[in-house]
Amino acid sequence: MTIKTFPEDFLWGGAIAANQTEGAWDLGGRGLSNIDLIPHGANRQEIKLGNKQSKLSDTEYYPSHTGIDFYHRYKEDIALLAEMGLKVFRTSISWSRIYPNGDEETPNQAGIDYYTDLFKTCKAHNMELLVTLAHFDIPMGIVEQYNGWKNRETINLYVKFAETCFEYFGAYVNYWIPFNEINVVLHSPFSGGGLTFDETENKEAVLYQAAHYMLVASARAVESCHRITPQAKIGCMIAGGSFYPYSCNPEDVWQSMNDGRTNTFFVDVQAKGKYPYYMDAFFKAKGLNIDIESDKEILKETVDFVAFSYYASRTSIADISRVEKNEGNIIVSAKNPYLKMSDWGWVIDPLGLRITMNQIYERFEKPLFVVENGLGAKDVVEVDGTIQDDYRIDYMQQHFQAMYDGIKDGVPLLGYISWGIIDLVSASTGEMSKRYGMIYVDKDNAGNGTLERKKKKSFDWYKQVIQRNGIEI
Ligand code: BG6
Repeated sequence: MTIKTFPEDFLWGGAIAANQTEGAWDLGGRGLSNIDLIPHGANRQEIKLGNKQSKLSDTEYYPSHTGIDFYHRYKEDIALLAEMGLKVFRTSISWSRIYPNGDEETPNQAGIDYYTDLFKTCKAHNMELLVTLAHFDIPMGIVEQYNGWKNRETINLYVKFAETCFEYFGAYVNYWIPFNEINVVLHSPFSGGGLTFDETENKEAVLYQAAHYMLVASARAVESCHRITPQAKIGCMIAGGSFYPYSCNPEDVWQSMNDGRTNTFFVDVQAKGKYPYYMDAFFKAKGLNIDIESDKEILKETVDFVAFSYYASRTSIADISRVEKNEGNIIVSAKNPYLKMSDWGWVIDPLGLRITMNQIYERFEKPLFVVENGLGAKDVVEVDGTIQDDYRIDYMQQHFQAMYDGIKDGVPLLGYISWGIIDLVSASTGEMSKRYGMIYVDKDNAGNGTLERKKKKSFDWYKQVIQRNGIEI
């Protein structure tokens, strides 16, 4: 047996996010958040896209209201993760638990107490923390009274929230991320940034202006983090995955380059401190007049590391009507004939992880962090109560091999964090049946179940990887 060993201080981890796990949506003084208005079912997609205004309705089921009840069960959950040997735990802070409406003078003490105890619990188990400030999460008070990220004033409200978190939780948290997958605001505007549209608005102008305000907020959070909690590192994060050209036709190659840029320009701003040269031409060609000029100085506050989620690569083609589409993932692309897909149509491409690592590092030359990866699959509880998720183990083994190769290529990688380490509510579909976890949660798509936790076969497998700090081949 040969073990391929990872760097000595490699951070093996597991991730969840407040919006998909905590539940307790109206407890502890928490205010309403955008996620609380996104139902499971037929209306979900249009609401997530911001095409339909959402109001709480008695006839809809809102998975976030109960989540997996992590709010009440965190002590047992963290103990299970510690048993697995996690070195780092990633979660997010529900903004409306700290500032229920978003614009209060002082934070909600119950929210501060909750996260203080959660983070202390992790530290007591010797786990590092990587905390996302906003994971598809914004108080509805800010959306309704300030127009959310359409308004420059939201930057100040966000910075206040961020500084509160750095002040109260800086003693426990060594890694911060200002926004989960910041690029997703362009593709899923209401879930990604609380944005909705009316017919008179130029949608693209709204999206790129909001994205810019989020980038300014991120730069200000970087400045605050370095000042308030200087031992900590703060990174940026995109939904990663390279865009392959569908063919060697230069038109497809050009398309793939441009598709890739809609993701990486965010990292250019956050890691290099300025918009890349091509965005100017892009805005001009689209006739977009984005209010950027006065922010050039603050954007120079750059991140310490570049984080990304990796689920799939994408395939770009100049004329998508010519081929079969892959609409499984949030970013629509052409179907790649060389790759298999998950049950939800997400392509499985381990080598793509090595490619993505190399491309991002080549461009930004900052340490990288894989902060999400995993397989969303249907799990079956056998009669004897076990869950034999060999397909998940196989998926991870292949991705760890690719990650190992990427590190051997010379890419500095701080760690790997497996997404949805405990089963949670799917962000895209609102289902529970799209499971990523190594810990099973007894809950179904309609919200029924005991919420009991069970270890899957992958639990022990990942535990062994962490113990050996490597994979067996
Ligand atoms: C990422 C998000 O896009 O992918 C997570 O940061 C999300 O919030 C994850 O859950 C997996 O996506 P899904 O739609 O399968 O839950």
